Amino acid sequence: MASVPSLASTVNQRLADALSAALPDAAPADPLLRRSDRADFQANGILALAKKAKANPRELAGTVVGKLPADDAVLKDIEVSGPGFLNITVSDRAIVETLAARAADARLGVPYAENAGTTVVDYAQPNVAKEMHVGHLRSAVIGAAMVEILEFTGEKVIRRHHIGDWGTQFGMLIQYLVEHPNELDHGGADRVDGEEAMSALNRVYKASRVLFDSDEEFKARARDRVVQLQAGDPESRALWQRFVDESKIYFYSVFDKLDMEITDADVVGESGYNDMLEETCRILEDSGVAVRSEGALCVFFDDVKGPDGNPTPLIVKKSNGGYGYAATDLSAIRNRVGDLKAGTLLYVVDVRQSLHFRMVFETARRAGWLTDDVTAHQLGFGTVLGKDGKPFKTREGETVRLVDLLDEAIERATAVVREKNNEKVGLSEDEIVENGAQIGIGAVKYADLSTSAARDYKFDLDQMVSLNGDTSVYSQYAYARIRSILRLRGDATPVAHPELELTAQERALGLHLDQFGETVAEAAAAYEPHKLAAYVYQLSSLFTSFYAECPVLKADTPAQVENRLFLCELTARTLHRGLSLLGIRTPERL
Ligand code: ARG
Repeated sequence: MASVPSLASTVNQRLADALSAALPDAAPADPLLRRSDRADFQANGILALAKKAKANPRELAGTVVGKLPADDAVLKDIEVSGPGFLNITVSDRAIVETLAARAADARLGVPYAENAGTTVVDYAQPNVAKEMHVGHLRSAVIGAAMVEILEFTGEKVIRRHHIGDWGTQFGMLIQYLVEHPNELDHGGADRVDGEEAMSALNRVYKASRVLFDSDEEFKARARDRVVQLQAGDPESRALWQRFVDESKIYFYSVFDKLDMEITDADVVGESGYNDMLEETCRILEDSGVAVRSEGALCVFFDDVKGPDGNPTPLIVKKSNGGYGYAATDLSAIRNRVGDLKAGTLLYVVDVRQSLHFRMVFETARRAGWLTDDVTAHQLGFGTVLGKDGKPFKTREGETVRLVDLLDEAIERATAVVREKNNEKVGLSEDEIVENGAQIGIGAVKYADLSTSAARDYKFDLDQMVSLNGDTSVYSQYAYARIRSILRLRGDATPVAHPELELTAQERALGLHLDQFGETVAEAAAAYEPHKLAAYVYQLSSLFTSFYAECPVLKADTPAQVENRLFLCELTARTLHRGLSLLGIRTPERL
């Protein structure tokens, strides 16, 4: 595995060296190199530097140019422009040679991060006995993309699905099952699918809720049941386990539909920290981080106040002795930092839980569980809206079931694939169905990943499965087109020809291909998968322009055919890698 420096970093280094030579007394400075429309790159850093050195920026720019190596193989042309910018053009040879080095590497020459460590990613955390909705989709999709992206940069990633499998509602559920023992039995069938599991759970949930709200005696029995469960009563534990197992059948069926692999070992729900809760609270109380207030154990913050101006505490233990969501999250932090040795904790959770995490992180800092060496970050995501711009609800005002949305996306995408199929593409019915699923699920994931996570977005299937515009479908078709060109030419891997002159489209495509590693690094460092999504889309559009303007198999000379095939192949591999980091498949034929 050979990591390949990008042209941007090479040029940047050359300029930084020339800057130091021009201003030997100044501290090393960043030339601030950007891709540019005027030339390949523009460096904007000289202005600020000249100001500091009290020099004329255009003159300084000229001096820097003079300090650059004379017959450099990478730099073809540099001109001073405007108040002191540098416009830089690299040589065609440097582009093709750099890309050839990328093509020779399975990782496309992308380096590992220098400061790689261990990150725990908390994502895909549905709640037991409850239907999954679009909020769970976001956490799963964004979380899975971050896991892949971080792993690709060399980070050790530990996945944690912090499912809601603990809490007072289990008293009600278990008590109901004690009193109606056959309700989760499925008439003796030994295998149930996700839908059957969910509908049984739903029935039990609704029926027990009705009882709980209408029957005071049942309510009292349900409350006692929680106490028994938390005390480890075997019957209660066994029934609780049935709810968890049944829910997992359902969760796994949805994750499977989402084309996501979730492993049992990574599912450590709230219940997994039960044994730590008491100690967590004791440490907080003994150290004075938490104090008793109206019977509850609370942590207070100067800057967190309710609408009435009174401080809003984080409640770690309720006045009735029960532990809540916060106690579990604090215990999870102790586990993740203390036992799993994580340097970073990443939580992919709805922004509406931001206050909770702010208070939990601050509490953990005060308690010393989070130290300066540990970063805790909530990757908060916004709400999924309906086409009307309001939170996504069914016509009856209920939350939309995730499975229904996924099924509809698959159905629509399958229709698109079927319509585009013809003799030339030659897909069988099985392939249409398989590709339809990959396109439909990809479209849903891409729509979720392509806007910055914190923003709300509209769930619009028409737009998502469109062949044009910023969709995964567009990129998947670009990929399949390249694969079909490459199939026409046979198996041999195309060879780069650095001696050729490039067209404008070839250069634009090539320079963008060269930016893949930087984009991945940025997306990883800032937890911004949408940057990678934007990269992939731009790569597909640049390929489309290239393909429209530059004949590939019918190019002028055999060397040019070969070089263009080479660009095609590297584009396909980069698209494949980029989309796969986002959790999106690339069918070979469409
Ligand atoms: N189960 C929660 C929900 O559905 C999300 C859990 C988030 N993770 C955590 N460590 N609190 O809202």
